[in-house]
Amino acid sequence: MSAIPGASAGAGTALFDLTGRVAAVIGGAGVLGGAVCHGFGGAGATIAVMDRSRERADELVVALEAKGIRAAAAILDASDPESVERARLEVEARLGAVDILVNAAGINSSTPFFDIDLEEWHRILDTNLTSVFVACQVFGRAMVDRGQGGTIINFSSASSEIPLSRVLTYSVSKAGVNNLTRYLARELAPHRIRVNAIVPGFFPAGQNRKLLDESRVESILRHTPAARLGEPDDLIGTMIWLASERASGFVTGALIHVDGGFTAMTI
Ligand SMILES: NC(=O)c1ccc[n+]([C@@H]2O[C@H](COP(=O)([O-])OP(=O)(O)OC[C@H]3O[C@@H](n4cnc5c(N)ncnc54)[C@H](O)[C@@H]3O)[C@@H](O)[C@H]2O)c1
Repeated sequence: MSAIPGASAGAGTALFDLTGRVAAVIGGAGVLGGAVCHGFGGAGATIAVMDRSRERADELVVALEAKGIRAAAAILDASDPESVERARLEVEARLGAVDILVNAAGINSSTPFFDIDLEEWHRILDTNLTSVFVACQVFGRAMVDRGQGGTIINFSSASSEIPLSRVLTYSVSKAGVNNLTRYLARELAPHRIRVNAIVPGFFPAGQNRKLLDESRVESILRHTPAARLGEPDDLIGTMIWLASERASGFVTGALIHVDGGFTAMTI
Protein backbone atom coordinates (compact mmCIF):
# COMPACT_ATOMS: atom_id res chain seq x y z
CA MET A 1 0.00 0.00 0.00
CA SER A 2 1.20 3.53 -0.80
CA ALA A 3 2.28 5.75 2.08
CA ILE A 4 0.39 8.67 0.51
CA PRO A 5 -3.29 8.53 1.50
CA GLY A 6 -5.47 7.91 -1.55
CA ALA A 7 -2.57 7.29 -3.92
CA SER A 8 -3.36 3.57 -4.21
CA ALA A 9 -7.03 4.13 -5.11
CA GLY A 10 -8.19 3.05 -8.56
CA ALA A 11 -9.06 5.95 -10.81
CA GLY A 12 -12.38 6.84 -12.39
CA THR A 13 -14.16 4.03 -14.19
CA ALA A 14 -11.79 1.33 -12.87
CA LEU A 15 -13.45 1.73 -9.48
CA PHE A 16 -16.80 0.84 -11.02
CA ASP A 17 -15.69 -1.94 -13.36
CA LEU A 18 -17.57 -5.22 -12.79
CA THR A 19 -15.79 -7.18 -15.51
CA GLY A 20 -15.40 -10.84 -14.57
CA ARG A 21 -18.18 -10.67 -11.96
CA VAL A 22 -21.35 -12.75 -12.11
CA ALA A 23 -24.47 -11.02 -10.76
CA ALA A 24 -27.69 -12.86 -9.85
CA VAL A 25 -30.63 -10.46 -9.83
CA ILE A 26 -33.72 -12.00 -8.23
CA GLY A 27 -36.77 -10.08 -9.46
CA GLY A 28 -34.51 -9.19 -12.38
CA ALA A 29 -37.36 -9.15 -14.89
CA GLY A 30 -39.12 -6.34 -13.01
CA VAL A 31 -38.78 -2.62 -13.67
CA LEU A 32 -36.06 -1.84 -11.11
CA GLY A 33 -34.38 -5.26 -11.27
CA GLY A 34 -34.25 -4.92 -15.05
CA ALA A 35 -32.53 -1.56 -14.81
CA VAL A 36 -29.98 -3.12 -12.46
CA CYS A 37 -29.35 -5.94 -14.98
CA HIS A 38 -28.68 -3.39 -17.73
CA GLY A 39 -26.53 -1.27 -15.42
CA PHE A 40 -24.40 -4.14 -14.13
CA GLY A 41 -24.10 -5.57 -17.64
CA GLY A 42 -22.96 -2.17 -18.93
CA ALA A 43 -20.28 -2.18 -16.21
CA GLY A 44 -18.98 -5.53 -17.49
CA ALA A 45 -20.79 -8.10 -15.34
CA THR A 46 -22.37 -11.33 -16.50
CA ILE A 47 -26.05 -11.36 -15.57
CA ALA A 48 -28.41 -14.04 -14.28
CA VAL A 49 -31.96 -12.74 -14.61
CA MET A 50 -33.87 -14.67 -11.95
CA ASP A 51 -37.62 -14.17 -11.81
CA ARG A 52 -40.93 -16.02 -11.71
CA SER A 53 -41.91 -14.52 -15.09
CA ARG A 54 -40.33 -16.59 -17.85
CA GLU A 55 -41.60 -14.33 -20.58
CA ARG A 56 -40.14 -11.09 -19.19
CA ALA A 57 -36.91 -12.79 -18.08
CA ASP A 58 -36.34 -14.26 -21.55
CA GLU A 59 -37.12 -10.90 -23.20
CA LEU A 60 -34.59 -9.18 -20.96
CA VAL A 61 -31.89 -11.74 -21.73
CA VAL A 62 -32.41 -11.10 -25.45
CA ALA A 63 -32.09 -7.34 -24.85
CA LEU A 64 -28.92 -7.77 -22.76
CA GLU A 65 -27.33 -10.12 -25.29
CA ALA A 66 -28.13 -7.61 -28.06
CA LYS A 67 -25.87 -5.19 -26.16
CA GLY A 68 -23.08 -7.78 -25.98
CA ILE A 69 -23.77 -8.64 -22.33
CA ARG A 70 -23.46 -12.31 -21.33
CA ALA A 71 -26.73 -13.31 -19.65
CA ALA A 72 -29.07 -16.18 -18.87
CA ALA A 73 -32.53 -16.48 -17.36
CA ALA A 74 -33.50 -18.78 -14.48
CA ILE A 75 -37.10 -19.15 -13.37
CA LEU A 76 -37.80 -19.49 -9.67
CA ASP A 77 -40.20 -18.82 -6.84
CA ALA A 78 -38.02 -16.61 -4.66
CA SER A 79 -39.85 -17.59 -1.49
CA ASP A 80 -39.26 -21.34 -1.94
CA PRO A 81 -35.81 -22.57 -0.77
CA GLU A 82 -35.80 -25.59 -3.10
CA SER A 83 -36.68 -23.48 -6.11
CA VAL A 84 -33.95 -20.93 -5.24
CA GLU A 85 -31.31 -23.62 -4.76
CA ARG A 86 -32.29 -25.28 -8.05
CA ALA A 87 -32.08 -21.93 -9.86
CA ARG A 88 -28.71 -21.15 -8.25
CA LEU A 89 -27.26 -24.45 -9.45
CA GLU A 90 -28.65 -23.81 -12.94
CA VAL A 91 -27.16 -20.30 -13.07
CA GLU A 92 -23.78 -21.35 -11.70
CA ALA A 93 -23.56 -24.24 -14.20
CA ARG A 94 -24.25 -21.85 -17.06
CA LEU A 95 -22.49 -18.65 -16.00
CA GLY A 96 -20.10 -19.51 -13.15
CA ALA A 97 -20.11 -18.78 -9.43
CA VAL A 98 -22.18 -15.80 -8.32
CA ASP A 99 -20.22 -12.88 -6.82
CA ILE A 100 -23.07 -10.37 -6.55
CA LEU A 101 -26.59 -11.14 -5.32
CA VAL A 102 -29.41 -8.62 -5.68
CA ASN A 103 -32.75 -9.26 -3.98
CA ALA A 104 -35.29 -7.26 -5.97
CA ALA A 105 -38.41 -9.45 -5.99
CA GLY A 106 -41.40 -7.74 -4.43
CA ILE A 107 -45.16 -7.35 -4.33
CA ASN A 108 -47.46 -4.84 -2.71
CA SER A 109 -51.09 -4.27 -1.78
CA SER A 110 -53.13 -1.39 -0.35
CA THR A 111 -55.74 -3.43 1.54
CA PRO A 112 -57.20 -1.51 4.55
CA PHE A 113 -55.95 -2.84 7.89
CA PHE A 114 -59.11 -4.69 9.00
CA ASP A 115 -59.44 -6.36 5.60
CA ILE A 116 -55.94 -7.85 5.48
CA ASP A 117 -56.35 -11.59 5.84
CA LEU A 118 -53.60 -14.02 6.77
CA GLU A 119 -53.27 -15.31 3.21
CA GLU A 120 -52.33 -11.82 2.00
CA TRP A 121 -50.18 -11.09 5.05
CA HIS A 122 -48.13 -14.26 4.48
CA ARG A 123 -47.98 -13.81 0.70
CA ILE A 124 -46.42 -10.34 1.01
CA LEU A 125 -44.06 -11.29 3.84
CA ASP A 126 -43.04 -14.46 1.98
CA THR A 127 -42.30 -12.62 -1.25
CA ASN A 128 -40.63 -9.53 0.20
CA LEU A 129 -38.89 -10.81 3.34
CA THR A 130 -38.71 -14.61 3.42
CA SER A 131 -37.33 -14.52 -0.13
CA VAL A 132 -34.44 -12.31 1.02
CA PHE A 133 -33.73 -14.63 3.96
CA VAL A 134 -33.82 -17.66 1.65
CA ALA A 135 -31.59 -16.17 -1.06
CA CYS A 136 -29.08 -14.92 1.52
CA GLN A 137 -28.92 -18.45 2.95
CA VAL A 138 -28.67 -20.21 -0.41
CA PHE A 139 -26.25 -17.82 -2.15
CA GLY A 140 -24.53 -16.78 1.07
CA ARG A 141 -23.68 -20.39 1.85
CA ALA A 142 -22.25 -20.86 -1.65
CA MET A 143 -20.17 -17.67 -1.30
CA VAL A 144 -18.86 -18.78 2.09
CA ASP A 145 -17.96 -22.25 0.75
CA ARG A 146 -16.16 -20.74 -2.23
CA GLY A 147 -14.13 -18.43 0.01
CA GLN A 148 -13.79 -15.55 -2.45
CA GLY A 149 -16.04 -13.04 -0.69
CA GLY A 150 -19.03 -11.47 -2.36
CA THR A 151 -21.64 -8.79 -2.04
CA ILE A 152 -25.38 -8.82 -1.40
CA ILE A 153 -27.71 -5.89 -2.07
CA ASN A 154 -31.28 -6.06 -0.78
CA PHE A 155 -34.13 -3.86 -1.98
CA SER A 156 -35.68 -2.06 0.99
CA SER A 157 -38.13 0.84 0.75
CA ALA A 158 -38.85 4.31 2.06
CA SER A 159 -41.67 2.61 4.01
CA SER A 160 -39.23 0.50 6.01
CA GLU A 161 -38.42 3.08 8.68
CA ILE A 162 -41.49 5.27 9.19
CA PRO A 163 -44.42 3.27 7.74
CA LEU A 164 -46.27 4.64 4.74
CA SER A 165 -50.05 4.93 4.78
CA ARG A 166 -52.02 2.16 3.01
CA VAL A 167 -49.18 -0.39 2.77
CA LEU A 168 -48.86 -1.93 6.23
CA THR A 169 -47.74 -5.45 5.28
CA TYR A 170 -45.29 -4.13 2.71
CA SER A 171 -43.82 -1.70 5.27
CA VAL A 172 -43.46 -4.48 7.86
CA SER A 173 -41.72 -6.69 5.29
CA LYS A 174 -39.24 -3.95 4.37
CA ALA A 175 -38.52 -3.18 8.04
CA GLY A 176 -37.54 -6.84 8.27
CA VAL A 177 -35.27 -6.47 5.24
CA ASN A 178 -33.41 -3.63 6.99
CA ASN A 179 -32.91 -5.69 10.13
CA LEU A 180 -31.82 -8.78 8.20
CA THR A 181 -29.38 -6.68 6.16
CA ARG A 182 -27.68 -5.27 9.23
CA TYR A 183 -27.64 -8.62 11.00
CA LEU A 184 -26.03 -10.36 8.04
CA ALA A 185 -23.48 -7.61 7.54
CA ARG A 186 -21.98 -8.65 10.86
CA GLU A 187 -22.49 -12.41 10.40
CA LEU A 188 -20.89 -12.53 6.95
CA ALA A 189 -18.13 -9.93 7.34
CA PRO A 190 -15.53 -12.54 8.43
CA HIS A 191 -16.14 -14.21 5.05
CA ARG A 192 -15.56 -10.92 3.19
CA ILE A 193 -19.19 -10.79 2.14
CA ARG A 194 -20.73 -7.33 2.33
CA VAL A 195 -24.48 -6.93 2.84
CA ASN A 196 -26.22 -3.62 2.15
CA ALA A 197 -29.68 -2.37 1.26
CA ILE A 198 -30.80 0.21 -1.23
CA VAL A 199 -33.77 2.27 -0.10
CA PRO A 200 -35.57 3.60 -3.17
CA GLY A 201 -38.19 6.32 -2.98
CA PHE A 202 -41.06 6.18 -5.49
CA PHE A 203 -40.52 4.69 -8.93
CA PRO A 204 -43.52 3.76 -11.10
CA ALA A 205 -43.14 -0.02 -11.57
CA GLY A 206 -45.10 -3.26 -11.80
CA GLN A 207 -45.90 -3.81 -8.12
CA ASN A 208 -47.00 -0.24 -7.28
CA ARG A 209 -48.66 0.93 -10.51
CA LYS A 210 -52.18 0.72 -9.01
CA LEU A 211 -51.09 2.42 -5.79
CA LEU A 212 -49.60 5.49 -7.44
CA ASP A 213 -52.86 7.25 -8.27
CA GLU A 214 -53.01 10.99 -8.89
CA SER A 215 -53.62 12.09 -5.29
CA ARG A 216 -50.93 9.76 -3.94
CA VAL A 217 -48.38 11.06 -6.45
CA GLU A 218 -49.33 14.62 -5.55
CA SER A 219 -48.68 14.04 -1.85
CA ILE A 220 -45.43 12.20 -2.60
CA LEU A 221 -44.17 15.08 -4.73
CA ARG A 222 -45.11 17.62 -2.05
CA HIS A 223 -42.86 15.64 0.26
CA THR A 224 -39.94 15.10 -2.13
CA PRO A 225 -37.30 17.84 -2.29
CA ALA A 226 -36.31 16.73 -5.81
CA ALA A 227 -39.99 17.26 -6.79
CA ARG A 228 -40.21 14.26 -9.10
CA LEU A 229 -40.69 10.51 -9.03
CA GLY A 230 -37.67 8.28 -9.55
CA GLU A 231 -36.67 6.75 -12.85
CA PRO A 232 -35.10 3.27 -12.85
CA ASP A 233 -31.80 4.67 -14.16
CA ASP A 234 -31.55 6.79 -10.99
CA LEU A 235 -30.59 3.62 -9.10
CA ILE A 236 -27.82 2.37 -11.36
CA GLY A 237 -24.85 4.42 -10.14
CA THR A 238 -25.59 3.57 -6.52
CA MET A 239 -26.08 -0.11 -7.34
CA ILE A 240 -22.79 -0.36 -9.26
CA TRP A 241 -21.01 1.45 -6.44
CA LEU A 242 -22.44 -1.00 -3.87
CA ALA A 243 -21.58 -3.99 -6.08
CA SER A 244 -17.98 -2.95 -6.70
CA GLU A 245 -15.54 -4.18 -4.09
CA ARG A 246 -13.05 -1.53 -5.18
CA ALA A 247 -15.56 1.31 -4.88
CA SER A 248 -17.41 0.36 -1.68
CA GLY A 249 -15.26 -2.30 -0.02
CA PHE A 250 -15.63 -0.64 3.42
CA VAL A 251 -19.42 -0.25 3.13
CA THR A 252 -21.48 -2.95 4.81
CA GLY A 253 -24.68 -2.96 6.84
CA ALA A 254 -25.65 0.33 5.20
CA LEU A 255 -29.09 1.47 4.08
CA ILE A 256 -28.55 3.74 1.10
CA HIS A 257 -31.45 6.06 0.26
CA VAL A 258 -32.10 6.94 -3.37
CA ASP A 259 -35.32 8.88 -2.97
CA GLY A 260 -34.92 12.51 -4.07
CA GLY A 261 -34.75 13.45 -0.39
CA PHE A 262 -38.14 11.92 0.59
CA THR A 263 -36.88 10.40 3.84
CA ALA A 264 -34.82 13.48 4.72
CA MET A 265 -37.77 15.77 5.46
CA THR A 266 -41.00 15.88 7.42
CA ILE A 267 -43.07 18.98 6.57
N1 LIG B 1 -40.91 0.86 -7.47
C1 LIG B 1 -40.72 1.49 -6.32
O1 LIG B 1 -41.10 2.65 -6.13
C2 LIG B 1 -40.01 0.78 -5.21
C3 LIG B 1 -39.66 1.54 -4.07
C4 LIG B 1 -39.00 0.90 -3.04
C5 LIG B 1 -38.67 -0.43 -3.13
N2 LIG B 1 -39.03 -1.14 -4.25
C6 LIG B 1 -38.66 -2.54 -4.30
O2 LIG B 1 -37.91 -2.77 -5.47
C7 LIG B 1 -38.01 -4.14 -5.83
C8 LIG B 1 -38.35 -4.23 -7.31
O3 LIG B 1 -39.71 -3.89 -7.51
P1 LIG B 1 -40.26 -3.05 -8.76
O4 LIG B 1 -40.77 -1.77 -8.21
O5 LIG B 1 -39.27 -3.05 -9.87
O6 LIG B 1 -41.56 -3.91 -9.13
P2 LIG B 1 -41.82 -4.93 -10.33
O7 LIG B 1 -43.17 -5.49 -10.04
O8 LIG B 1 -41.63 -4.24 -11.63
O9 LIG B 1 -40.72 -6.04 -10.14
C9 LIG B 1 -40.82 -7.07 -9.18
C10 LIG B 1 -40.36 -8.37 -9.82
O10 LIG B 1 -40.39 -9.39 -8.82
C11 LIG B 1 -40.85 -10.57 -9.43
N3 LIG B 1 -41.38 -11.45 -8.39
C12 LIG B 1 -42.42 -11.22 -7.55
N4 LIG B 1 -42.62 -12.28 -6.76
C13 LIG B 1 -41.68 -13.20 -7.08
C14 LIG B 1 -41.36 -14.50 -6.60
N5 LIG B 1 -42.07 -15.08 -5.61
N6 LIG B 1 -40.34 -15.16 -7.18
C15 LIG B 1 -39.63 -14.60 -8.18
N7 LIG B 1 -39.88 -13.37 -8.68
C16 LIG B 1 -40.89 -12.68 -8.12
C17 LIG B 1 -41.93 -10.12 -10.41
O11 LIG B 1 -42.19 -11.09 -11.40
C18 LIG B 1 -41.29 -8.84 -10.96
O12 LIG B 1 -40.54 -9.12 -12.12
C19 LIG B 1 -39.08 -4.73 -4.90
O13 LIG B 1 -38.45 -5.37 -3.80
C20 LIG B 1 -39.82 -3.52 -4.41
O14 LIG B 1 -40.45 -3.73 -3.19
C21 LIG B 1 -39.68 -0.55 -5.28
